[in-house]
Amino acid sequence: MSFQQALGATAAEIDALLDRLLPPDAFPAPRVTAAMRYAALGQGKRLRPLLVAESAALFAVPRERALRAGAALECVHCYSLVHDDLPAMDDDDLRRGKPTTHKAFDEATAILAGDALLTYAFDILSGAETHPDATVRLKLVSSLAKAAGVAGMVGGQALDIEAETRTGAGLSDIVLIQSLKTGALFRHACEAGAILGGADPAPLLRYAEKIGLAFQIADDILDVESTPDALGKATQKDKGMGKATFVDLLGMAEAKARAAALVDEATASLAVYGDRAAVLNEAARFIVERRK
Ligand code: IPE
Ligand code: IPE
Ligand code: MG
Ligand code: MG
Ligand code: MG
Repeated sequence: MSFQQALGATAAEIDALLDRLLPPDAFPAPRVTAAMRYAALGQGKRLRPLLVAESAALFAVPRERALRAGAALECVHCYSLVHDDLPAMDDDDLRRGKPTTHKAFDEATAILAGDALLTYAFDILSGAETHPDATVRLKLVSSLAKAAGVAGMVGGQALDIEAETRTGAGLSDIVLIQSLKTGALFRHACEAGAILGGADPAPLLRYAEKIGLAFQIADDILDVESTPDALGKATQKDKGMGKATFVDLLGMAEAKARAAALVDEATASLAVYGDRAAVLNEAARFIVERRK
């Protein structure tokens, strides 16, 4: 199976699971549940759930458990996109090839749908089907809460917005912003596999740190080099908004070289797993070679 096929297969499983787990468009707030489903179902790559599944597979974790942890993480990721697109943040109209949630519904509904996806993630993780041992579930909850919160994604998003109106962001500022806003959820994805498997997460966390950074560099490169048709979201935005990116600071060639170096560092981190890490190694390469 090629990496693209593996990713496609995981995406189909995650879509089916989210479709089953997310509340139907019903009582008590049908507009918000419709917006949750609109934001979560459909065209996402589902890369973070793939990382949960592949990290968990290293330790022979039953796939259903890994997929539930992946679905919970994807709910947090989708919420982060809904809020990232709001007028108060990046003010975007297009996401995953369709109108952003606040465009398809309204701003209040989009904020509430984001809030509901975030909290629903913890509902999923705390359910007994995620893992029979409550201590394991508690570790997953704690890891995701830290990754999503002010010491993780939210903190990074805050620094990203602040940097728009502040000149002189240096390399260390950009690394910190990207490590928090994007890297934190990647670190959780890989740590979740180790938590489910009762294993040491250290090599996976080193790998995740590298691919998280490489992923955001690739996102910033695609903002310059791709098109809305190919990407399913607006392009040519970061420079105009004053975003602190590697592309802006180092130029395109150096940004690409840095992303490629991070892939090598990421795969080196997984040497202890030998061939069992083949898909994770391919994921690292996909992250910088992807066109979407
Ligand atoms: C976009 O993430 C947000 C960033 C962290 C750059 P993805 O590129 O994984 O978005 P989807 O889930 O595939 O739409
Ligand atoms: C967003 O980064 C990272 C999040 C935590 C959502 P971007 O703002 O660059 O993501 P896109 O380009 O809108 O997907
Ligand atoms: Mg943003
Ligand atoms: Mg954005
Ligand atoms: Mg971007």
